[in-house]
Amino acid sequence: MFDSIQEKIRGAGKIVFVTGAGISQESGIPTFRGKDGFWGKYDPMQLATIDAFYENPKLVWEWYEERRKNILMAQPNAGHTAIARLGRYKDVIVLTQNIDGLHQKAGSKNVLELHGSIIRIKCTHCSFSDDMEAGFDVLPPKCRCGHMLRPDVVWFGEALPQDIWREAIMHAQSCDVMVIVGTSLVVSPANSLPLYAKQNGAVLVEVNPEKTVMSSEMDLSVRQTSASALPKMVELFES
Ligand code: APR
Repeated sequence: MFDSIQEKIRGAGKIVFVTGAGISQESGIPTFRGKDGFWGKYDPMQLATIDAFYENPKLVWEWYEERRKNILMAQPNAGHTAIARLGRYKDVIVLTQNIDGLHQKAGSKNVLELHGSIIRIKCTHCSFSDDMEAGFDVLPPKCRCGHMLRPDVVWFGEALPQDIWREAIMHAQSCDVMVIVGTSLVVSPANSLPLYAKQNGAVLVEVNPEKTVMSSEMDLSVRQTSASALPKMVELFES
């Protein structure tokens, strides 16, 4: 599967993974756009926005509470675990668009959450922020300061945390191999990371059962799910 670039992977100093919803699909968390993308009565593009939150905070919170329940029960799958194991052999950085914390749960140490975390909650007014794993009785929940709390995620219409984004670009520009896993690469600015890597001469590998808008840029496209493909990458070091 990785034969054509196995020497590049074995010889790499730094490997950067850019991951999206697809890597968590085999943990039971639906994607947004793939063929299995299904959020029932909710349309993420309508609800994951700052305007929707202030127009109807209760509805947006109902959607996030449903996702939080699902995500807090989810376990990392063989794809997450493989990336964590690779960290024993190489300098591995994970730049994830996911907000589910499954890379960290699998043991990955260097994870940048480009779109925040659904487990972390912050105040819309004061500086309060904390991981909250329990559900809320009343929606929208209120901070001690009296203002509404919100998930610490990046909504459409909001900028990514600038320090995290700058660090992500630095990693993309300094890696030998970039592995793009389970993302449709349609949401910016995360979808520019492969271009930074390519400009720096990195080898680009895509792991996705479906073609993406950037498949033609890849040195290797593995048309498999992440849980089946990524353990094979670890075998290059453990066989
Ligand atoms: N293994 C690997 N890839 C998979 C799997 C799997 N088991 N199942 C689905 N995929 C692929 C799909 O083919 C699709 O290309 O994962 C990709 C998921 O794409 P999206 O649903 O668009 O998710 P993502 O790219 O992470 O979305 C980016 O959009 O809604 C916003 O903020 C949200 O972070 C999200 C961003």
